[in-house]
Amino acid sequence: MNSEVLIIGGGVIGLSIARDLQKKGAGRITIVDRGPIGAEASWAAAGMLAPNIETDTSEDFHRFGIESLELYPDFSAALLDETGIDIELDRSGTLCLAFDEPEAAELRSVHERQRLRNVRVEHLSGADVRDLEPLVSPMISEALFYPNDWQVENRKLFAALRKFAETNGIEIIENAEVSELLTYGGRIVGAKSSIGDLRAKVIVIATGAWTSLIKIGGLALPFIVRPIRGQMISLKTNSRQIRRVIYSPRGYVVPRADGRVLVGATVEDVGFENVTTPEGIKSLMDAGAEIIPRLKGLAVAERWAGLRPFAADGLPLIGDLPGHENVFVATAHYRNGILLAPKTAQVISDRIVDGVSSRLLELYGCGRFSSAAGVR
Ligand code: FAD
Ligand code: GLY
Repeated sequence: MNSEVLIIGGGVIGLSIARDLQKKGAGRITIVDRGPIGAEASWAAAGMLAPNIETDTSEDFHRFGIESLELYPDFSAALLDETGIDIELDRSGTLCLAFDEPEAAELRSVHERQRLRNVRVEHLSGADVRDLEPLVSPMISEALFYPNDWQVENRKLFAALRKFAETNGIEIIENAEVSELLTYGGRIVGAKSSIGDLRAKVIVIATGAWTSLIKIGGLALPFIVRPIRGQMISLKTNSRQIRRVIYSPRGYVVPRADGRVLVGATVEDVGFENVTTPEGIKSLMDAGAEIIPRLKGLAVAERWAGLRPFAADGLPLIGDLPGHENVFVATAHYRNGILLAPKTAQVISDRIVDGVSSRLLELYGCGRFSSAAGVR
């Protein structure tokens, strides 16, 4: 099999890159996955697009989050047009709750810091919050409201990206695990997989939490990506009675259009053990009922776990693989891969098709881990 571009990993990152490459005329594109595509972190996620809450750890990362968020309205409309699938982009906004004075003091300090930087955030009293969301706990004291933190139904996003691939000539190979990249004369010429060698001119490594298992010439990649488990549950209600995504310091609640309420998520460093646990599920039920007391006692409709791809500094790895001009990496999106997928796809496809670099590739390139200090 020969391709122009071989994308290893069919999660939201690999599939979004495949779509952008196809639209830019990159030629024959193949996606290879060790399992069925879209069945790992991208399926397990909550679908929140929360740059002001989850990527505000530095101004650069915040800007990355905002730039990707701003692509979502067009991304969602284009996917509907291309595939007929509505990814349920919901712009109702997100609340962050405080239940006691230390939590309220923390929210006030975040509000002050973000207001000075013109982040769209409003400080609300407990009464204001209950006007917006009557089912929220009477125990809350204050909250922040982020009108520009949204959500999508990530499983529908995957369905749309899959349909785009299937209807636009992108080849999908499932149940084929890549173990290493193939070299010939010092150049990468493809990938060795469990179903044989896959040849390609350009390779994109989009293998999420499993990225560090891939080798080149028997050697590890020059950075480490680790799995960080997240457990989630969904509860079934008859109709949607909560409008907004709601965080507390102990978890979050994500109301879906069909009446399901998702509650997430644990953050656990337990290697590749991709399972739910009784303790994890109990902590989620407690976190959900603390935010919305009426959730207490509802039966758990579904429980699941996923592995977030985490690099040592918690930031994405996107760009050229040092020393290999035809290999690109797009991984380690940790808690924000759904949010960051459209912008990641844009900068990686611009790099591959037009040779264009970008500030994001400089900031989040792999070079930051391959210094004289060795691999971190
Ligand atoms: P994945 O979706 O894991 O895809 C990687 C793919 O690569 C897999 O299909 C895998 O089978 C394949 N693969 C791996 N190794 C190989 C190999 N050697 N050969 C072939 N194929 C291989 N993000 C948000 O933006 N918003 C959220 O609300 C959110 N909530 C989350 C909640 C939970 C519980 C979890 C676990 C994550 C959440 N995330 C969220 C994070 C988000 O899910 C991830 O950042 C994102 O899905 C990563 O996408 P990916 O394509 O890199 O990885
Ligand atoms: N971004 C939500 C999570 O990772 O749990």
